[in-house]
Amino acid sequence: MKKAIVLVLLAGAVWAETPATIPLPKPNTTGGMPLMQALSARQSGREFSSGKLSPQALSNLLWAAYGVNRPDGRRTAPSANNRQTIDIYVAMAEGVYLYNAKEHRLDLTVAGDLRAATGQQPFVAEAPLNLVYVADFAKMADTPDTTRLLYSAAETGFIGQNVYLYCASEGFSTVIRAMVNHEELAKALHLRPDQRIMLAQTVGRPSQAPASKKGAN
Ligand SMILES: Cc1cc2nc3c(=O)[nH]c(=O)nc-3n(C[C@H](O)[C@H](O)[C@H](O)COP(=O)(O)O)c2cc1C
Repeated sequence: MKKAIVLVLLAGAVWAETPATIPLPKPNTTGGMPLMQALSARQSGREFSSGKLSPQALSNLLWAAYGVNRPDGRRTAPSANNRQTIDIYVAMAEGVYLYNAKEHRLDLTVAGDLRAATGQQPFVAEAPLNLVYVADFAKMADTPDTTRLLYSAAETGFIGQNVYLYCASEGFSTVIRAMVNHEELAKALHLRPDQRIMLAQTVGRPSQAPASKKGAN
């Protein structure tokens, strides 16, 4: 009986640390590095410190990635027929959240630390943030399979490059990743059969350790 009470209290404590929604501060949509400098600095990095991004940096990052940038709801990345088929799942220590671009907030999908499940390289478990790009094929029900894949891959690429440029501008480290165990991750994220994981992208501050090739593909 006592054990059951302790378990309930523990579950309550974990739940309390995992809010159902995380409102994001208004993104700062001015400033940053001039575009040509950001392009000069864009690169993949695989050394991350575990330090969390500030709420403002998280807000700016997600807005840059795929936020709403016009009153009609269109986004920072182009989208075939404006179907906006990519969802961004944000894996952090406290849980996995879905980026709700319309409300510019994070909605809890799965509580608990699933960062390690987002990839097959050791740094994914240590970096504060892993973005998982998931195509929702239900939004393209009338589109042939190969076309759905082409459109989703293109959309993912635009989003990924937005993240690369934001990270270059802020001095963050990032790498986009195909090395993902799709089956395991889809299960962990409770994805529907008509959702497909496209790529993942790790983001964080670069670690102070000297750069090495460890973990690179
Ligand atoms: C579709 C795609 C998949 C990639 N998958 C991985 C990956 O799983 N792991 C990784 O460390 N890097 C991955 N990369 C990053 C590339 O290794 C990297 O972009 C390349 O070495 C060039 O380096 P740069 O980005 O610094 O220019 C991927 C890049 C692309 C475009």
